[in-house]
This record gives sequence, C-alpha cells and structure tokens, in this order.
Amino acid sequence: MPHQHTTPDHVNPLARLLALDALVHEELIKQAVAVALSHTDIASVARIIDVGVGTGAGAFALVEEYSAAHVLGVDLDADMLAGVRQRADHRELGDRISTALLDVGDPDFDAGVADLIWSSNVLHEVRDPAVALRNLFRSLRPGGVLVVMEMDASPSVLPPSLQPVERALRVAAGADGLRVDWSGPLRAAGVDLLETRTAASDQLLPADGAAGEYAALELQRLLDHASPTLTEQIAAEVRDLVADLSGSHRRLTELHIRGTRTVWVARRL
Ligand SMILES: C[S@@+](CC[C@H](N)C(=O)[O-])C[C@H]1O[C@@H](n2cnc3c(N)ncnc32)[C@H](O)[C@@H]1O
Repeated sequence: MPHQHTTPDHVNPLARLLALDALVHEELIKQAVAVALSHTDIASVARIIDVGVGTGAGAFALVEEYSAAHVLGVDLDADMLAGVRQRADHRELGDRISTALLDVGDPDFDAGVADLIWSSNVLHEVRDPAVALRNLFRSLRPGGVLVVMEMDASPSVLPPSLQPVERALRVAAGADGLRVDWSGPLRAAGVDLLETRTAASDQLLPADGAAGEYAALELQRLLDHASPTLTEQIAAEVRDLVADLSGSHRRLTELHIRGTRTVWVARRL
C-alpha cells in the first residue's frame, strides 16, 4: 500500500469539511445505510468497497451494521486514506477496514470483487463516469449490490431570514440545482436499478458547535467559487456571517441545516 506524508484534518480544509459534514448530516448516512440494509442480507456481505471513501464516514457506518464484513476504502487522495487508517486503528477497527490508492476512473481499476459497493458524493467528480460505472459493475459479484449517493444541491445552513443571501450565494457559485441523475448511466453499465430514494435531514442546531464550524466552511467554500455576479453587498454579508460563525461576535445563535441526497440502489444480475 503506498504511504505518503499525511495532512491532519485540522489543516486539510476538505477533510475537515467532510468530517463535519458527516457529523452534521449523520442522519443522511444512516438513511442511506438503512436503504442498503433493506436490499442485502447481512450474513452474505463479507466484502464491501467504499469508492471515494474520503474521511470514512460511510465505511465506519457500514462496518457497524455489516458485522461480519471487511471494508476496503478506495480513494485517489493518499492523505484521505491515511486519515481513514488512523481513525480505524483508533477505533480498533484496523482489521476490518483497509485502504487502497486507486482511481475509479482508470480503465484498469482493480479493487477485487465485492458483495456490496458504496459510493457517496464521488461519481460527479469523476472525469468519465461511464468508465467508473463499468468498473463498479465489474467489481460486484453476480447478485452484489451497488449503492450510489449524491447531493441534490448544496446543503443550506442559514436561518429563514438569511435564506435570500444564501440562495444568491449558491446561484453565484453554480451550486444551485446540482442534481445529477445516475439512473440511465447505471442501467447502461448493466446493473438492475432496484430503487431510487431521497434521503433528507432538516435540523435546528446551535451555532457555537460543529454546525457553526461546518456552516462557516461551507459558506466560505461557496464564496471562493462565486462568480462576479455576486453583488459586493451580499459578498460582504457572507464574509460577516463567516466571521460571526467563526466566533468573532456571535450574532447568529442557531442554524437551520438542511440537506437532501438521492440514493440509487442497483444489483448486478
Ligand atoms: C466529496 S468527497 C466524498 C467522500 C465520502 N464518500 C463522503 O461521502 O463523505 C469525494 C471523495 O472522492 C474521492 N475521489 C474523487 N475522484 C475519485 C476517483 N476518480 N477515484 C477515487 N476516488 C475519487 C476524493 O478524493 C474524495 O475523497
């Protein structure tokens, strides 16, 4: 297994955002795992591949439910994989979770064969999703199940009074209406589409905890991607909110965090 230098979550903003996302949107992962469980027999799932494992939120939720399974976390980011191994060791799950540095878009992708493949918020990042889907299909045993999840749009984090600001920011960042539909490409890859489900969470959370840090990072990420169509007035308002959520003056005490994701479940015939 290739080992490279590692960057801890607190200095890797993407890893930090993903870790906070998993915490704040834990309910969405639970809902998606429940969908996977409804289509699989726990005893017949010995090997799971989590493609684009990131910080491992899916992998850790899956080993908990599939008590006899081993999870291989695949990613093309060596730092992410090192973080997953560290967390697995820390939770004494080092013998149940391993990692492999692989690109699912590589035509020679080989992660072995799995009973269950999970891929959350990854396929939209892959250069040629058709190649990736063929790879996933090849990596499933006959009868094996594939679970793909994607965000329907960027999550929203601000309370109702500030939603016009957040909406303008999302539009300027091109993060509104991101919805991708993998139903057609999944069928084209040769799997039998069993179900498409929406997972949703809607929570009021205190702004001074993990939700505040998450919201600040998410708003800053959108600001970094915003086009010049964003007015200076809104940009200034967002900068102020990011500072506020980072602890500068605490104008906001409560956040309204909402997220929806689509879950596709398919089976290799
Ligand atoms: C948005 S994160 C999602 C992480 C995790 N699955 C989750 O839901 O929290 C996307 C992850 O997919 C990985 N990734 C992107 N393209 C990939 C590819 N072609 N092959 C393998 N991993 C990939 C990224 O490095 C990143 O860790």
